[in-house]
Amino acid sequence: MRQPLVIANWKLNGDLELAKAFAERWSSLASKVAICPPAVFLSDCKRLFPHLVLGAQNCSAEQSGAFTGELSADMLASAGADYVLIGHSERRALFHESDALVARKVEAAQNAGVIPVLCVGETLEQRQAGAEASVIIAQLEAGLAQADLSRLVIAYEPVWAIGTGETASPDQAQEIHALIRGWLKQRNASLAESIQLLYGGSVKPANAGELFEQQDIDGGLIGGASLDVEQFEAICKAVQDK
Ligand code: 13P
Repeated sequence: MRQPLVIANWKLNGDLELAKAFAERWSSLASKVAICPPAVFLSDCKRLFPHLVLGAQNCSAEQSGAFTGELSADMLASAGADYVLIGHSERRALFHESDALVARKVEAAQNAGVIPVLCVGETLEQRQAGAEASVIIAQLEAGLAQADLSRLVIAYEPVWAIGTGETASPDQAQEIHALIRGWLKQRNASLAESIQLLYGGSVKPANAGELFEQQDIDGGLIGGASLDVEQFEAICKAVQDK
């Protein structure tokens, strides 16, 4: 049985006040929730609100060295991160992260004992061309080439649904989640049943219930709505009702 998981991705937003609001409502959120604030807040969040489960939004593929501005997975772990988002479409598109780099980051996270949340998703053009399945499979093949499947979360985030207010329909989302689960089954049938697959892309209280009802959707990766603790709480409630 998979435990539901809801992850808040604050992106370049939020502060310790927002973390405090989450900390105060923590017990009423889903049983398994993680928040990914900007990395600079991780240590303070852990120190001030030790009961929060934390994640980072990115990590370096390197462990140490002359890589100005980078943060290693070990550093993020020591600052309190249990999870790290890897291969988010904003990193792929805006920071030119390749599948090969994504794979190295997944490995770096696992070596540091941090659970990678591998993000995959197709663009609007790719979906209009009917290429969504092949794009997702290629991202999985490349991103997880060296991965330990026993310590992994995967998030399906169609690029056209991120921050646009447009959500994949429950059927569209389930179809891709089933595809991902099927791909995992070919690698390891028993582990495939236990890996949490999250949906992300304009999840709101109004659409969370029907998305989370789907068989292979185990929770969400929430952007905009995770900046409002009441909206986030309503989304968590929907996953608890699953
Ligand atoms: P929105 O929920 O704002 O669409 O963002 C989704 C996302 O990118 C989470 O990682």
